[in-house]
Amino acid sequence: MTPVWIDLIYLLAAVLFISGLKGLTKPRTAVRGNQLGAIAMLLAVIATLLSQNFSISLILLGIVIGSGIGAVLATRVQMTEMPELVALFNGLGGAASVLVAGAFLVSVNRSLVASSEMTAAALSGLIGAVTFSGSFVAFGKLHGLKMIKDIRFNGQQMANFGLMLICLILGLLVVMHSSWASYYYWTMAIFALTLGYLMVISIGGADMPVVISLLNSFSGLAAAATGFALGNTVLIIAGSLVGASGLILTKIMCVAMNRSLGHVLFGVLQPSEATASADEVYVNVKSTSAEEVAMLLEVATKVAIIPGYGMAVAQAQHAVRDLTNQLLERDIDVNFGIHPVAGRMPGHMNVLLAEADIDYARLKEMDDINSEMDQVDIAIVLGANDVVNPEARTNPESPIAGMPIIDVDKARTVIVIKRSLSPGFAGIPNPLFSADNTLMFYGDGKDAIQAISKALDEG
Ligand code: TAP
Repeated sequence: MTPVWIDLIYLLAAVLFISGLKGLTKPRTAVRGNQLGAIAMLLAVIATLLSQNFSISLILLGIVIGSGIGAVLATRVQMTEMPELVALFNGLGGAASVLVAGAFLVSVNRSLVASSEMTAAALSGLIGAVTFSGSFVAFGKLHGLKMIKDIRFNGQQMANFGLMLICLILGLLVVMHSSWASYYYWTMAIFALTLGYLMVISIGGADMPVVISLLNSFSGLAAAATGFALGNTVLIIAGSLVGASGLILTKIMCVAMNRSLGHVLFGVLQPSEATASADEVYVNVKSTSAEEVAMLLEVATKVAIIPGYGMAVAQAQHAVRDLTNQLLERDIDVNFGIHPVAGRMPGHMNVLLAEADIDYARLKEMDDINSEMDQVDIAIVLGANDVVNPEARTNPESPIAGMPIIDVDKARTVIVIKRSLSPGFAGIPNPLFSADNTLMFYGDGKDAIQAISKALDEG
């Protein structure tokens, strides 16, 4: 295929990538946006392989194997495991950049390569390796792997700065010393892997969402740098789009969590001993039943539902829609309070509620629902924990200190639906559960909501 045709296909792929991203900004067009992105990626891969004179049969074989793996992952992975999958994808993207830039350095006549391309290759290796190890640690933390334990030691920040400095010096040597470039490159990659590991291993609690979106952005930046090294325009465009959208998301997450990026990356995680023990916090917990909740709902005029990770685990969104419709039929106003980091991935709750066809107009952002919380008769907290934990406001030593929360404690009555008093992602007790106006309804999220619906029907 002639270079002009390749460039035209790259241009088409770029337009489709951008249209796809635009589609992803609204729930109604998100599926179409995703499809456009997939078509763009297919075009980009085929055009790139054709430009390297790969045989059609090899290309088809690659597509069948790759699509097969993708199809198995897409159908087998549970919705609750999606964030882990995204972390894995980020990590593999980073690894691919390290390997491709490394292969580039080995295969080209380095004395003829411009220093800008050598710089791009070095950056690709540095960012890609940090992304790879960081994403795998994030995967382990999200998956709750026991072997991934928080590591904190004196001088951790200095060690990270030191590693960063070594990586930069080795990167500079890659650019300057063409004959040893490959050796410097792989040594830098090893130091960068250690840096990625150490940077993410000490992060937890409310800072995790910020790190995940940052790693997402890094995987794009590494790919864009590889594109510069190889002179591949579509890789530059696709990588820049991922890098830029990841950075925007990181900023949104930082604002949502009331954190600066510097604090997340270089701050020290507070030990959980800084918060009170569960025994101290849960002295005054009161439990309730479906029938009692139904009786409270019957006399309510304003209800707020605050979903969290437990709704995703229970797959309770359809049951929630049915309960919402029941309440609306009784002229009870129902709104949803959506915390920006509820669940385990950005937009997690929005995706689930949209899947159940819950009217998007009823989904209120945190500030909006908080401004009317004191008029809410019943706040139903469904499988949410950290995002409604008042410790964030009151305990400066807490790992979630300063994180804005949904102020359900200001509602007249709070019903918390969860299976036990176990902590959420941040691993700390929640004083909301023993507040005077809180009633705990223990059970699986879906079963509990269905039981309330049934009790309302029978009431
Ligand atoms: P969490 O604080 O993680 O709490 C979830 C609660 O759901 C748990 O306490 C659990 O209690 C309950 N639960 C689990 N399965 C359930 C089921 N089948 N039925 C009912 N309840 C169930 O969730 P959250 O409030 O949504 O907060 C999110 C946390 O994740 C934040 O700390 C955030 O920083 C972190 N995080 C977020 C992201 C993104 S991007 N959103 C990424 C990484 C980490 P039981 O076991 O007692 O049922």
